[in-house]
Amino acid sequence: MKKEKILFVFGTRPEAIKLAPIIKGFLEREEFLTKVCLTSQHREMLDQVIDFFELPKDYDLNIMQPNQTLAGITSRIFTGLDPIMKDFQPDYVFVHGDTTTSMVASLSAFYAGAKVCHVEAGLRTNDKNSPFPEEMNRQITGRVATFHFTPTQVAKENLIKENIADSSIVVTGNSVIDALLFTAKKTVHLKNAEICEICSKVDLSKKVILVTGHRRENHGEGIIKICQALRRIALEIKGTEIVFPVHLNPNIASPVKKLLSDIPNIHLINPLSYPSFVWMMKQSKLILTDSGGVQEEAPSLGKPVLVLRENTERPEAVKEGTVILLGTDEDKIFFTTQALLTDSEMYHKMSIKNNPYGDGKTTERIIQFMLNASL
Ligand code: UD1
Ligand code: UDP
Repeated sequence: MKKEKILFVFGTRPEAIKLAPIIKGFLEREEFLTKVCLTSQHREMLDQVIDFFELPKDYDLNIMQPNQTLAGITSRIFTGLDPIMKDFQPDYVFVHGDTTTSMVASLSAFYAGAKVCHVEAGLRTNDKNSPFPEEMNRQITGRVATFHFTPTQVAKENLIKENIADSSIVVTGNSVIDALLFTAKKTVHLKNAEICEICSKVDLSKKVILVTGHRRENHGEGIIKICQALRRIALEIKGTEIVFPVHLNPNIASPVKKLLSDIPNIHLINPLSYPSFVWMMKQSKLILTDSGGVQEEAPSLGKPVLVLRENTERPEAVKEGTVILLGTDEDKIFFTTQALLTDSEMYHKMSIKNNPYGDGKTTERIIQFMLNASL
């Protein structure tokens, strides 16, 4: 029997984390011939994930450049993918979420006559400019895709409103929970160099606040306001320790280092490997972030999240009450953090372990669907 050919294309840290369990699942199934193409829109941050999950690299476009532009990424990926589509001739191309890699890979697959399978489909803010350029990336990918694997019913309804056929949408949960559960088990007794360094610098018995940030719409004024709020939190709220693994994007790294390097209870560190980051989330009392993936993971660990963005395409946890959408206003960030660290009832309500994004069985559902689709 002919094996269906599947090509996974991805390039950034979050896509790799969220696709890893699905790729591993497909590699175990002999009904498919599965290959992996890295665009390497990210380099070091992608390699950390590939190493941890032990993923193959059948093709590597290696396109990352320092301070790259959107047009530059787009053109290098199109050029790099064209011969791979011709060489492998996939039946299905899997892409994830809303990066420029996902958008270009979906179009490239469509041009080559492959069916596009979109994982984490259907998220919407319906604001073209926020998140920028992710909202347009995911809308374009949604138009091109044949199959849409949505994390939640809300995401499915977003697609139905765009006249996408019901029969092409499957609510699967978010595979980040598959990745998280796989990884969390491995972090129970984890003691690697990153963790030893954190333990030597940070007093983990204090109120530990974990921070991440990278969104393009927060470049410039947004990240400066976030840093000003973090300074105030560290200096004015007693007993806090802030741990900030700084994204390698220079538009984030430069202002963060300039504004926060001199405060003893703010610890700026390199991006952590996935298992160390999961370990760090477990040590934290509270998480401040503009990340999509972190918003989805934290409710499984019972950690309240303050989202440093003006809007979110992930309204489910906000509705559940474990996430607050704050924006980047300095006062709002400071006073909400202070309230959460002092009001135990508020903290307790936000730290219930209830995750609307998944149950760890997303991979199973996607594979089952593809087995039926390829009959
Ligand atoms: C990208 C995605 C964003 C995703 C985020 C996850 C787009 C347009 N942006 O944003 O949707 O949420 O990744 O983190 O698809 N860099 C390194 N090493 C790395 C990674 C990045 O040095 O391993 C630096 C480089 O200078 C690079 C810059 O960061 O040029 C920006 O990378 P890019 O992928 O363009 O944007 P992100 O902000 O990372
Ligand atoms: N993450 C990580 N190391 C870090 C910070 C985050 O492994 O130092 C993980 C995090 O657990 C989540 C993912 O990276 O799964 C989120 O990536 P990012 O915030 O870069 O992108 P987004 O989710 O916003 O697209």
